[in-house]
Amino acid sequence: MNPFHLCVFSIIFTTIVSLAFSVDSSYYEACKPQTCGNGPNISYPFWLSDQQESYCGYPSFKLACKDKNPTLTISDDDYIIKEIFYSNHSFLVDNGAVYEDECPLPLHSFRLDRTPFNYSSNHVDFSLFYNCSQEPVNNMLTYSITCESNSTLHSFATIHKEVLQYMNRTLLDSCESSVVLPLDYHEAGGVNTWLEMNYTEILKMGFVLNWTAQNCSNCETSGGRCGFDNNEFVCFCSDRPHEKTCDDGSKFDWKWKVVVGICSVIGTIAVMCVIFFIWRRRNRNRYGPSSYASRSIYSKSYSRSDTEKGSAYLGVHVFTYKELEQATNYFDSSKEIGDGGFGTVYYGKVRDGRSVAVKRLYETNYKRVEQFMNEIEILARLRHQNLVLLYGCTSRHSRELLLVYEYVPNGTLADHLHGGKAKPGALPWHTRINIAVETASGLSYLHASEIIHRDVKTTNILLDNNFCVKVADFGLSRLFPTDVTHISTAPQGTPGYVDPDYNQCYQLTAKSDVYSFGVVLVELISSLPAVDITRHRHEINLSNMAINKIQKHALHELVDPSLGYESDFKVRKMINAVAELAFQCLQSETEMRPSMVDVENELKRIQSDDFSKEKAEEIDISADDVVPLKSGPLPPSPDSVTINWVSKSSTPNDSTG
Ligand SMILES: *[C@@H]1O[C@H](CO)[C@@H](O)[C@H](O)[C@H]1NC(C)=O
Ligand SMILES: *[C@@H]1O[C@H](CO)[C@@H](O)[C@H](O)[C@H]1NC(C)=O
Ligand SMILES: *[C@@H]1O[C@H](CO)[C@@H](O)[C@H](O)[C@H]1NC(C)=O
Ligand SMILES: *[C@@H]1O[C@H](CO)[C@@H](O)[C@H](O)[C@H]1NC(C)=O
Ligand SMILES: *[C@@H]1O[C@H](CO)[C@@H](O)[C@H](O)[C@H]1NC(C)=O
Ligand SMILES: *[C@@H]1O[C@H](CO)[C@@H](O)[C@H](O)[C@H]1NC(C)=O
Ligand SMILES: *[C@@H]1O[C@H](CO)[C@@H](O)[C@H](O)[C@H]1NC(C)=O
Ligand SMILES: *[C@@H]1O[C@H](CO)[C@@H](O)[C@H](O)[C@H]1NC(C)=O
Ligand SMILES: *[C@@H]1O[C@H](CO)[C@@H](O)[C@H](O)[C@H]1NC(C)=O
Repeated sequence: MNPFHLCVFSIIFTTIVSLAFSVDSSYYEACKPQTCGNGPNISYPFWLSDQQESYCGYPSFKLACKDKNPTLTISDDDYIIKEIFYSNHSFLVDNGAVYEDECPLPLHSFRLDRTPFNYSSNHVDFSLFYNCSQEPVNNMLTYSITCESNSTLHSFATIHKEVLQYMNRTLLDSCESSVVLPLDYHEAGGVNTWLEMNYTEILKMGFVLNWTAQNCSNCETSGGRCGFDNNEFVCFCSDRPHEKTCDDGSKFDWKWKVVVGICSVIGTIAVMCVIFFIWRRRNRNRYGPSSYASRSIYSKSYSRSDTEKGSAYLGVHVFTYKELEQATNYFDSSKEIGDGGFGTVYYGKVRDGRSVAVKRLYETNYKRVEQFMNEIEILARLRHQNLVLLYGCTSRHSRELLLVYEYVPNGTLADHLHGGKAKPGALPWHTRINIAVETASGLSYLHASEIIHRDVKTTNILLDNNFCVKVADFGLSRLFPTDVTHISTAPQGTPGYVDPDYNQCYQLTAKSDVYSFGVVLVELISSLPAVDITRHRHEINLSNMAINKIQKHALHELVDPSLGYESDFKVRKMINAVAELAFQCLQSETEMRPSMVDVENELKRIQSDDFSKEKAEEIDISADDVVPLKSGPLPPSPDSVTINWVSKSSTPNDSTG
């Protein structure tokens, strides 16, 4: 290809690319309001998982179509959305059971905790009592659930639980189970109508909830559609995504940077072409035209890209794609050492003999290269003995973005606790507490550098041959938009480790890392995985299980028996203290959790307590002053809502769900 053709080609190519980038209405189109057939049109903050993209609304507002009805799932129960009042941020729902059955028998109470919803009006509690051995005498106050009653067992519903209880104290206690659902009092139009209705009709009235979310009306009146992308509110307009409304031209987002960048490149190339042709015409007689031409273009474009980005690469070693391809034997699957967040990790050996871990990102999103390089630069500056060192990456011009990390040979903490390398007794307590201290130390360094890890979990805690910790995979999630998720690695964290507060604020903070670290502490104590669906329903999440056991003073049921909790007084004392710390980290209220530095200091204190008193061990053991877990007032637990509710009512078997 001769230089003239090269010039023309690059000008045409860059023009096409810049045109393609300048208009992007795909988000706008994808978030068109949709319906399931029945019910309202669905749009922000709700989104239909099978017809719209996840960025069209907030994660907790995900709806599915079931039998043509838009259905919201709250704590495993389906609620059918009858109407949405976008103007006052509220919606009318029905319990899904109402439509499945002539005689619906909801089995779980309705719970609002960990949702962004709240009751919007004066709702009343509609209590359903199943299989009671006594029969209510005053039928005025109750609705019989005839299909679930016979001569020996009675089921009924009431909004006057207190009155019934007052009239006959043993009646409600005689029931096998009960469920509480909300009802909207004024929806019914007064008590008289209620008396004329039967149980099914009352349930079908449903209830109104309101929601907390960014107000969309400004975006909508400017012709846009709202969305929530990359953890931020976005206004998708027919030209491109905007920050707040379609009229704000101010947002100088990446697409416009690309356009401006490309325009300046076109300009530069054009000027260079002109200069080059003039210059070549002058020197035609002195040099062989073709050989010089290619060399000149090459060296010019090369030096341009170098000076353009020279400083951005500061501190980051740039590997060539080829070098890494050779180091990993062309990404040989036998060299695969993990399937970590955002990419597959390969073992490799680079030219200078160092062993490295090469992370090949699942989705190379070229739109974000700019941001990517800045981020990599920040990550590569982090130096801490408990963080995996980022050696470098491939250049922005390479066909794939690869990250090159220090290779840590001894697997992950998860492997050693409950994975392939787990053996009873192989990881003694003093090693575990050391792992906890070192992990906390790495994380508090990250926080001090204003970086949130966002995916703290035992598979991201690597161990070297001396069981020293190297925390991996920090900082990457910020680079990826929420829709580029890979099955195992949603950017908002991993199930079992995610801050419960995330469901309300859609924001991960340093305290979210503290929460996840709390789960890691519990794993260290128990050697159990963070999520295990074969466990009892309330104990699928290790955090719930730990909180239950700690509150019931049954910590011994949680602790890995091989740690010597029963036999070694020192170990027991330390495990108790660590459990208490984990409990604080797992508070659902963000403010109640300690900071990472506090956690680190507390762990160090727990650890050194042991060593300073090591010599006094015999005395301590003979004294046998077994210290139980502090039974003083514990801070409210993540289940405090449930606890309060149960203690408020006087019927112990009040709740099945
Ligand atoms: C849904 O939107 C369409 C078109 O905008 C409108 O014709 C229809 O009435 C809407 N349906 C409901 C239930 O609001
Ligand atoms: C949303 O904003 C509009 C205009 O600012 C206002 O009229 C409306 O009441 C707001 N809606 C809610 C639910 O706050
Ligand atoms: C729900 O609203 C009530 C006031 O109506 C308020 O006291 C309560 O804190 C709200 N709950 C949540 C979870 O926002
Ligand atoms: C929901 O409604 C309740 C009661 O009217 C009100 O106190 C609360 O502030 C509302 N919440 C939102 C987010 O509108
Ligand atoms: C919103 O408006 C609808 C009808 O206009 C009403 O039924 C509903 O109760 C309102 N919601 C709130 C929270 O006021
Ligand atoms: C009531 O008892 C019967 C049999 O004892 C059982 O099959 C049924 O599931 C119970 N109903 C509820 C709602 O618990
Ligand atoms: C409560 O009701 C049951 C049957 O409905 C009856 O046998 C019992 O005597 C009542 N108890 C009181 C205190 O009224
Ligand atoms: C009806 O009563 C019998 C006992 O007489 C019981 O076994 C059965 O489960 C009851 N059925 C329901 C629906 O409660
Ligand atoms: C409740 O009343 C409706 C009509 O008003 C009737 O179709 C339905 O069968 C009744 N349900 C029960 C359980 O009696």
